[in-house]
Order: sequence, then structure tokens, then C-alpha cells
Amino acid sequence: MSQKLKTQIGIIGAGPAGLMLAHFLDKMGIESIVLENKSRDYVENRIRAGLLEQNTVDYLKEIDVADNLLEKGLLHEGVNFSFDGERIHIPFGELTGGRNITIYGQRFVVRDLIRTRLERGGEIRFEAEATKITDIDADQPKIYFTEDGEEKILECDFVAACDGYHGVGRETLPTESYRRHDIHYPFSWLGIMANAAPSSDELIYSYHKDGFALLSYRSPTVSRLYLQVDNDDDIDNWSDDRIWDNLHKRLAYTGWTLNEGEITQKGITPMRSYMIDHMQHKKLFVAGDAAHIVPPTGGKGLNLAVADVKIMSKAFEDFYKNNSTEKLDNYSSDAMRRVWRAQGFSNFMTTQFHKQYEHGSYEYLLQKANFDYIAMSTAMKTTVAENYVGLKHI
Ligand code: APR
Ligand code: PHB
Repeated sequence: MSQKLKTQIGIIGAGPAGLMLAHFLDKMGIESIVLENKSRDYVENRIRAGLLEQNTVDYLKEIDVADNLLEKGLLHEGVNFSFDGERIHIPFGELTGGRNITIYGQRFVVRDLIRTRLERGGEIRFEAEATKITDIDADQPKIYFTEDGEEKILECDFVAACDGYHGVGRETLPTESYRRHDIHYPFSWLGIMANAAPSSDELIYSYHKDGFALLSYRSPTVSRLYLQVDNDDDIDNWSDDRIWDNLHKRLAYTGWTLNEGEITQKGITPMRSYMIDHMQHKKLFVAGDAAHIVPPTGGKGLNLAVADVKIMSKAFEDFYKNNSTEKLDNYSSDAMRRVWRAQGFSNFMTTQFHKQYEHGSYEYLLQKANFDYIAMSTAMKTTVAENYVGLKHI
């Protein structure tokens, strides 16, 4: 006989979506249990992007999990765009009424969320793999999971599938309940972590005839840099020297030099978008990468996951406090507005800054003209800035 547990909200996944949801619910006095199939150590050491929108920073403050972020996070009040060696600056705060971004590695956000959840007596069951979700059209949906080799059941009022692209949540939605969209870009990113003092105090996105490059960083002594490579490229083709040579070339700017250092991690990830256009069915609600992935060019992945569960948490609060299902019924449509905006901005940043067409072609000249327009137009700079730091409301 499988051991049975019970809670109000069964959350699958201890990534940013699942953990933020658990904290939001905790502040509302709503019980939840988080099921995570990996170990705590694994989850806390996954290297991901590290760009936090203003809303995400504000939410972490709201749930009182921002101490480390405010101490160690790197506030960015602008960003640099380069195109064929020309460089412009976009001042976020000046154009958005003081809204900015903070660079703080996702793994550190996850560590802070896990630590405070456990310190506050909240439950996270690590190495507990959800294998199926049943009864989503009944009063008490069930999450079957395996833990310590045993099958167990978590009965709940609602299931929040925050289990990423490979989870069981999306797979449990009836396929006829949503339409899926997939975009595969004809290039990938080679990312490195290097013990090199960043050469710029703000990010640099650079179009170059040999390919895109991005300068970011994690601390005053650790740089995070990316290079556009072909989809069929292999990391073994990229010696440290070749990586640095390309970074120097693609980020070159008069009077500016790029600091080098020991490369401590490197890897290639494809650039893609996917999404489903309806993120719920009966008592199952899906959030984050389980419902959508955007290319990292706009830095939206984590922030979109957090935005989904902020909406979801308010819907659960409305149900328990006001016995209303209106916000639950509207969860998907409410979340979709921001998902589509993030898809749009990420697609714009990706197509604008990656080498795809020969110099002199119509498509290349259009990229150049778009860059020149950003350079000359305060209105366009403001559009870029408000999307980059994240729209306060949508
Ligand atoms: N049972 C339990 N846990 C699961 C299962 C399962 N069957 N399947 C997946 N998980 C866990 C994963 O191990 C992971 O820890 O769900 C979590 C999902 O977390 P993320 O993939 O980080 O997704 P999300 O919380 O939506 O955050 C999106 O994370 O992956 C990055 O780039 C992405 O920045 C974006 C952010
Ligand atoms: C990062 O710091 O990892 C980063 C920053 C901005 C992006 C993508 C990744 O657009």
C-alpha cells in the first residue's frame, strides 16, 4: 500500500518557479509540498543565466529572500549594444523611471530560496520523482512519486507543475487542450565562465560579421561570456585560445580591451523557443520552462517562470480566501500576455544581434538600419529598456 501524503498545493519541481510559488503561498498561509527529483546539491549547482528583472528582485524582497541578492547581486542601470564595432548605451533607470536589472546567478537564487524555505519549516522532498499525475478533474488530484525506492502518493487540492521542459506536467495536459509552437534558431551559444575581472561594468551585446558575442559576469572577478557558434559545432573544436581570440575580435571597440583569465567552465547550448498556448487543465496548472522556453538573448527564462507563479499564487489565494475560481480560470490568459511579450522581445534581440546573412544583403542591411534606429531614437531605446528590465504590469 503506497504511503499517502496530503497538502493544499502539490508543487513538482524545485527550480525558480516551484520554489518561488512555495514562498508566495507560504506568505498567504497556503500549504504546499515541493517534490524535486534531483538532489539538493545537484539543483543548487546547476549553472544557468543570471539576469533578474526588476519585478523578480522586488518579489524576492517581498518574500524576504533578498539579503544575499542585495549584498552580492550586481545592479545594472544600463546595457551596451555594439554593431560592427559601433557601440551605444541604453540607460535603463533614466528611461523607465528607475527600473533596472540585477545580475545574480540563478543557482544562488535557488540556494537562497531552498535555504529559507527549509529554515521556515517548509517542505521540499529531494530525490522524489513525480511519475504521474491523476484525477486532475476530481476534488483531490494525486501526484504519484518515487522516493527511497518506494511509490508514494501526494493528494492535493491543486497541482502546480513547475517541472521544466522534461517534466510530467505538460505531458499530463490533454494534447487537444493546447497548441504548441516551436522555433529553432540556426545557431547556438558557446558559454564560458572565466576567472577574469569583467572588462565592462555593464553587459555588452555585440553583432559581428563572424558572429554574436555577449559579455556578462557573476562577480568583480568572474566573467560570463558567450559566442555564437553553429548548431552542429562541438565544444572540443574550441580551445581556450580560440575562444578568447573570437571574443576579442567580436567585442572589439576602440580604446577598450577584454580581460582574459582561466576558463573554468564551457559548454554549447542551442537557441530555441517553444511554448504552449494554454497552461492549465482542470486542477493542473503549468508554469515556467514546463510551458515555455525563450532564447537567453533577452534574459527572460527565470523571470518568466517567476511571473507565471506570481499570477498562479494570486489565483490560489483568491480561491481559498474568497472561494472564487475566476483568477484560476484566467491563469493561462493572464500569464500568456507576458509570455508572448517575452517571446517577442527575445526573438527581437536574437534576430537583431546574431550573424545570419552576408554583409550587403537586404537582411543584413535591415539589421544595421534597426541598430541605427535604436542609436538615434529615445523612443526605441525606451522600448528596449522597458522590455529588458521587465514590464511592471502587462
Ligand atoms: N519530478 C520531480 N521534479 C522534477 C521532475 C519530476 N518528474 N521533472 C523535472 N523536475 C525538476 C527538475 O529537476 C528541476 O529542478 O523540476 C525542476 C524544474 O526547474 P527548471 O528547469 O529550472 O524550470 P523553472 O523552475 O521553470 O525555471 C526556469 O530555469 O532552466 C532554467 O533557463 C531556465 O532560467 C530558466 C529557469
Ligand atoms: C548571463 O549573465 O548569463 C546572461 C546575461 C544576459 C543574457 C543571457 C545570459 O541575455
